[in-house]
Amino acid sequence: MNSPAQDKLDVVIVGGGMITHDQILPSIYHLQRQGRIGSIKIVALNSAPLRALAGEEAFGEGFPGQTFEPFPALDEPPERNFPDLFQDVIASLPPGNMVVAAVPDHFHDSVIRAALEHDQHVLSVKPLVPTYAQSVEIEKLARRRGLLVGVEYQKRFDRRSLDARRAYRAGRFGEFRLGEAKMIEPYYYRHSNFQNWFTKENSDPFTYVGCHYVDLVYFITGLRPVEVSVRGVEGTFPNGNVGYLWAAGRVVWENGAVMSISDGLGYPDQGAGTNDQCLAMYCEGDDCGAVLKHDDQFRGVSHGYVDLQSGAKFRFVSPDYFRMVPWEGEGLKPVGYGFESIEAIALSAIRVNRAAEGFAGNYALAARRQVLQEIDDRGILATPANSFVNELVTEAARLSIARNGLPAMIEYRESPSLRLNHS
Ligand SMILES: NC(=O)c1ccc[n+]([C@@H]2O[C@H](COP(=O)([O-])OP(=O)(O)OC[C@H]3O[C@@H](n4cnc5c(N)ncnc54)[C@H](O)[C@@H]3O)[C@@H](O)[C@H]2O)c1
Repeated sequence: MNSPAQDKLDVVIVGGGMITHDQILPSIYHLQRQGRIGSIKIVALNSAPLRALAGEEAFGEGFPGQTFEPFPALDEPPERNFPDLFQDVIASLPPGNMVVAAVPDHFHDSVIRAALEHDQHVLSVKPLVPTYAQSVEIEKLARRRGLLVGVEYQKRFDRRSLDARRAYRAGRFGEFRLGEAKMIEPYYYRHSNFQNWFTKENSDPFTYVGCHYVDLVYFITGLRPVEVSVRGVEGTFPNGNVGYLWAAGRVVWENGAVMSISDGLGYPDQGAGTNDQCLAMYCEGDDCGAVLKHDDQFRGVSHGYVDLQSGAKFRFVSPDYFRMVPWEGEGLKPVGYGFESIEAIALSAIRVNRAAEGFAGNYALAARRQVLQEIDDRGILATPANSFVNELVTEAARLSIARNGLPAMIEYRESPSLRLNHS
């Protein structure tokens, strides 16, 4: 790749579903307004989600005059699928721009590889890929070409996580010993596009959202997980597909600490929540206990509305994750860690490009790699090099859940490996 002298990224978003609607597109629109993002193309499997995004009134209000280019075109019949179109749209992007992988979990790998092979930086939603071997291949490919792969673990950018990381690493909690975490997503997810892909062979609630809290404990403490067992509870989606709709996970960390993580698609749709999520880490110091507790569901704000626009009349509202608020500019601006996480990855990709300005060939590559190394070492942005324990846990969890909770052991030698514990 020649050194692109660009401080603005053109973006291709692959996937036009819930996460693109709720977090990615409004964040990218705001970055476009700030001059960080140039053109925006969105590719989906068919025109149905693209029509919904294009017609979303909240975007018209928040980002007046801003649009995206849809692939396939909006007038294609919604039942006509274009499974390979993302390849052509990615190929149309000049080198050194950015591809966002926002497709179902098991499909991230194909999108990320296509992006890297076309010399694009990557923002991938979590979990990066289902296996450790895939993450190693992605890391190698990205390193060879001097490209950033940022994994969008947005909870890292929640101020409470950043503060906890600093305090834990300063020794203020002593040592983590026992923990519990929970993320129960709403019941209505079962009626969404999830029913088409969230089947037993592709994903489960631990892999889907439990990964956030596994990543957070690693982010806060730096401890590596060594054993994972996950027991799933099966159920049937409205379309008849069978999936794991609940999951109880247990993760053992390298210092012997144990953590239980409960996940599911079943929080009441009318509940205030609008999901249920929390983290508790019990720790020990010199002859004293310590605790770190985050209530990630009720963040101190409740609204009782006179209408049903939010799906229920009474809701807990998270001002921390993602809200669109009035600001000094036109429309609305997104605020919260959902925006900051996407902003951090986009700005880092721009920083990588800038480092190579004025250089060519191997000099440009070396300059980009130096910035990438700094990002890996800092450990704030999740990258394949600094967050591969998540892929080990995902792979271990998938092995375990298919065997009714048999523990899968993670061994860290020169090259990490997995082993099922049959004893
Ligand atoms: N908090 C979070 O970090 C968070 C939250 C939700 C989802 N996610 C992740 O985001 C990903 C997508 O989740 P979602 O909720 O948006 O799912 P979704 O089912 O709502 O959307 C999936 C999208 O992928 C598109 N797609 C599928 N195959 C494609 C293909 N061949 N080419 C182009 N597009 C294709 C579909 O058209 C659809 O728009 C998952 O990996 C999920 O785990 C992360």
